[in-house]
Amino acid sequence: MENKKRFYITTPIYYPSDKLHIGHTYCTVATDAMARYKRLTGYDVLFLTGTDEHGQKIEDKAKEAGVTPKEFVDRIVTGEKGVLDLWKLMNISNDRFIRTTDDYHVAAIQKIFKKMYENGDIYKGKYVGKYCKPCESFWTESQLVDGKCPDCGREVQDAEEEAYFFRLSKYADRIQHLLEDTDFLEPRSRVNEMVNNFIKPGLEDLCVSRTSFTWGVPVDFDPGHVVYVWVDALFNYTTALGFMNDKYDDYDKFWPADVHFVGKEIVRFHSIIWPAMLMSMGMPLPKKVFGHGWLLLDGGKMSKSKGNVVDPYLLAQRFGVDALRFFLLRTFPFGSDGNFSNEALINTINVDLANDLGNLLSRTVSMVGKYFGGTLPQQQAEDPEKDRELVELVSTLRSRYEDQMEHFAFQNALAEIFKVIGRANKYIDENTPWVLARDMEANGPRLAGVMYNLLEVLRISAVLLTPFIPQSSAEILRQIGACEACQTWESAGQWGSLRADVTVQRGENLFPRIDLDKELAALEEIAAQAKKAALPALEVEPQLTEKVDFDTFCKSDFRAVKVKDCQNVKKSEKLLRFTLDDGTGTDRQILSGIAKWYKPEELIGKTLMAIVNLPPRKMMGLESNGMLISATHTEHGEEKLNLLMLDDKIPAGAKMC
Ligand code: ME8
Ligand code: MG
Repeated sequence: MENKKRFYITTPIYYPSDKLHIGHTYCTVATDAMARYKRLTGYDVLFLTGTDEHGQKIEDKAKEAGVTPKEFVDRIVTGEKGVLDLWKLMNISNDRFIRTTDDYHVAAIQKIFKKMYENGDIYKGKYVGKYCKPCESFWTESQLVDGKCPDCGREVQDAEEEAYFFRLSKYADRIQHLLEDTDFLEPRSRVNEMVNNFIKPGLEDLCVSRTSFTWGVPVDFDPGHVVYVWVDALFNYTTALGFMNDKYDDYDKFWPADVHFVGKEIVRFHSIIWPAMLMSMGMPLPKKVFGHGWLLLDGGKMSKSKGNVVDPYLLAQRFGVDALRFFLLRTFPFGSDGNFSNEALINTINVDLANDLGNLLSRTVSMVGKYFGGTLPQQQAEDPEKDRELVELVSTLRSRYEDQMEHFAFQNALAEIFKVIGRANKYIDENTPWVLARDMEANGPRLAGVMYNLLEVLRISAVLLTPFIPQSSAEILRQIGACEACQTWESAGQWGSLRADVTVQRGENLFPRIDLDKELAALEEIAAQAKKAALPALEVEPQLTEKVDFDTFCKSDFRAVKVKDCQNVKKSEKLLRFTLDDGTGTDRQILSGIAKWYKPEELIGKTLMAIVNLPPRKMMGLESNGMLISATHTEHGEEKLNLLMLDDKIPAGAKMC
């Protein structure tokens, strides 16, 4: 068997408590790019993602939804537009998907918990402290910020119960050494955060079981206790390889992981609790934890509860999966926070993909078609003076790209590629192929040389872009006629791999330019509609509880009235002026603020209901004698009104009671 170098990379496993948003997509796309990059460079890669399905939050949400927790998570994981659908849409190349409700994982967690209990690192005690339900995090009083959860700023609740504890304190020194003296945790800035905020104040033992709810992995030697969801979750990285189970057999091959990609708010779990538990188990530690930043919206974290999530389905549908993948990794430095906006997304697509890359491709392919019928002649002339800079830049691109990729600096790696693409567009202008083409006899070989150089830029760029925009890269390589052997990592480091007499294939425009203003307006409209749709379908005013006595009620004189005439009131957008037959023989005038719902002409001749003994009121200088009765309710946040229409056989003036 071939003994390839191995690379094991993971994403956090997602809470299926709500649909995933662009923030979750960000981390998974980054992991996917890394996994694809490693495969490209010849590694045997295992890329794991999955879902973290236990815990009180899920139990509560399921109850709210009136389904079992398993039904609840199934809907979000395997249901329509669920987690699996999203990763398929985003072209995520994970090799494995773990669900913590999978039997093999549950059984393995029980064994792991027992092992730590038996080795003395888990003991029984009493938990007194605070619990943040949304974060599934325990806090001590001193860790709270203004009495609130230090992670999310929400209210915490008192918690006291018999519980098992993990001797985290025992590992404090070893963890501090791991963080400070090795490259275990990156970026480096996160190390100080962990050491200063958590280790220096003193690591306390960690509560690792709960008795107040049941949706978790049961502690098999103490019924009533379920394993703390983070213990359950973290070990997924090893159970998914087959650790303590027979489902898989890859533990020896792939553990320890090369890198765990995690969001910054869960760095604490991955860089303190996780290595401590592995130490307790006597297992090797992962080689690296990388804490990436958040995608922010209007400067704040996206969250379903804040109602400011961005839907990856919508964006992928409007702009294409590759454009969205590209944007996420091109725009934000992976280790820092970044502000998401539709405008930034559209601008990135227009500038990099449509203008620079898309143009270079379509100009080059169409020139090869126009000047050479699609196939370059063997005879090609160099112009060392004019070619040197471009050729040098492209020939060394792979190594600059590799440097950046090895440090998870996706943004910089892409910047290197686009520097070359920008240079190539300039090269076209410098060499003016359309001028050369005027005298093919004299300039044919030189023109062919220029075209070849451009195709080489496209080839090498497309190979290196494959981890980011896999489908588009394949299409670029197809259009420029790249053979299989010149699509490899090796060939991306070798200028001149493309055969001289290559044949190009024209194809569709890969990245059409987007009209910024029009698209922004369309997205705003969609967001407004979605917001409206999220409001309750139907709302009516609550009924009054205060009683009115019968005599008082009878003092209101309700009558049937017929609309003889109805007009808009000049200068008023709201008011309609009714001339009514109320059965007395004298016309009655009533003004009603319902112009938003009715056109005057549609009401003429109708039989309505009015209260006729209200004192007269002046509106817009006109007198109103009474009030028309209507029914009101709210639909998706919009006020609705319906006049009470009576049967036309009821005569004007008939009393209602
Ligand atoms: O934390 N920007 O799950 P989760 C960037 N189940 N990343 C974001 C983000 C944003 N706006 N919003 C969320 C959990 N994420 C645990 C993990 S691992 C053993 C258990 C990232 O669904 C977040 O930072 O709440 C985290 O890394 C990941 O999505 C999963 O978040
Ligand atoms: Mg979270």
